Amino acid sequence: MRPRLICHMTSSVDGRALVPLWHPADVVPEGLWETARARLGADASIMGRVTALEYTLGTSPYPETTETVERVDHLPEPGLGKYQIAIDPGGSLVWGRSDIDGAAIIVVVAESTSDRYLAGLRAEGVHYLFAGASEIDLGLVLDKLGSLGIQRLYLDGGPATSGRFLHAGLIDEISLLLLPALDGYTGAPAIFEYKGERDKPPFPVTKLKLTSNEVLDGGVLWLRYELDNIRQ
Ligand SMILES: NC(=O)c1ccc[n+]([C@@H]2O[C@H](COP(=O)([O-])OP(=O)(O)OC[C@H]3O[C@@H](n4cnc5c(N)ncnc54)[C@H](OP(=O)(O)O)[C@@H]3O)[C@@H](O)[C@H]2O)c1
Repeated sequence: MRPRLICHMTSSVDGRALVPLWHPADVVPEGLWETARARLGADASIMGRVTALEYTLGTSPYPETTETVERVDHLPEPGLGKYQIAIDPGGSLVWGRSDIDGAAIIVVVAESTSDRYLAGLRAEGVHYLFAGASEIDLGLVLDKLGSLGIQRLYLDGGPATSGRFLHAGLIDEISLLLLPALDGYTGAPAIFEYKGERDKPPFPVTKLKLTSNEVLDGGVLWLRYELDNIRQ
């Protein structure tokens, strides 16, 4: 069964996503993300390649290989408990670690991902799963994560990745931390960024129902919305 997908994003009042660009600066209360995340009760989280870069420790690309790596998922045993998933079919993240705070790293790759990259992940003890020939099928990603026993999955952005999941009609809940700050500049990324035609295919979200609102320390507003999506 697919996990419930909770997209948890932090936004300025003008809907922008890049916290270091906001003013005033330093509006994030200590422990805000950790506390909110713990309360969401997810058993794994998923993020895009650019956000994941902030967690990598490797310094040079994985070495060339003559090996041909079989295109078969390389996954931890089901029920391990904690997983950190990153989407990187282009194979550019050099991890230098196999877990983040005890959560086993799983990289979402494609059959077109290079042998060099897959061999590099294996050598570091990083797991991976295939989700398409060259394009990533996000529904398949969720199906495979469900088979690992993941029931609640936290979507950690960034905006491009959240935009893709939103457009695919796969987000069940948006958890939004609205901070008392502004970006104010044209072109700064919003919390969802989907690059595509407006009319085809139709955007699948049909309703956002506000399910909770809470004022947190520092004037932070925490809003949670349940989404209705057209089933595809
Ligand atoms: N405000 C918030 O709550 C929040 C949360 C998280 C992150 N952030 C910030 O957001 C910024 C990064 O966001 P971003 O939008 O630039 O990037 P991102 O969403 O972190 O990563 C996007 C990249 O991930 C890969 N990817 C994701 N989904 C894919 C799919 N379905 N198929 C193929 N590739 C896929 C692609 O990598 P390739 O480019 O290699 O093709 C894509 O360009 C960082 O500054 C981070 O600090 C903010």
